[in-house]
Amino acid sequence: MKLPPSLLARLERLARRAAKESYSPYSRFAVGAAVLAGSNKIYSGANVENASFGLCNCAERTAIFTAAASGERKIKCIVVYTPTASVTPPCGACRQVINEFGPHARVLSICDSEDRIDTTLDALLPGAFGPGNLG
Ligand code: THU
Repeated sequence: MKLPPSLLARLERLARRAAKESYSPYSRFAVGAAVLAGSNKIYSGANVENASFGLCNCAERTAIFTAAASGERKIKCIVVYTPTASVTPPCGACRQVINEFGPHARVLSICDSEDRIDTTLDALLPGAFGPGNLG
């Protein structure tokens, strides 16, 4: 989805800001995400880890669940930021969660260099299982 440059810049700023709130004492790998939802509101979030490692929650899912819990049912775009030299694409679990609300969403990964991946959920999760498969 094509977005005005100013809106994209805002999403990028909010994803960067969200990473500052990351709770990642175990991996020391901070991630921030910003979601442009159906209402055009933006929701952001960071990864939140747990001493019981399997309970760690990725930044994308923090942001998406916040949007969904606020009544949003569509994701137009998600920006994922890591304070690293190369980009981090969303993990498999997060791709599945993005698919629920944004099967055609734009997915932009950014970092602290010019490196970026600007793609779509369709490209990241072809043949996805989704709400339509439940009949
Ligand atoms: N992480 C994310 O927040 N998003 C991803 O897509 C990949 C991984 C987090 C989870 C964990 O807190 C840390 O990065 C290391 O895996």
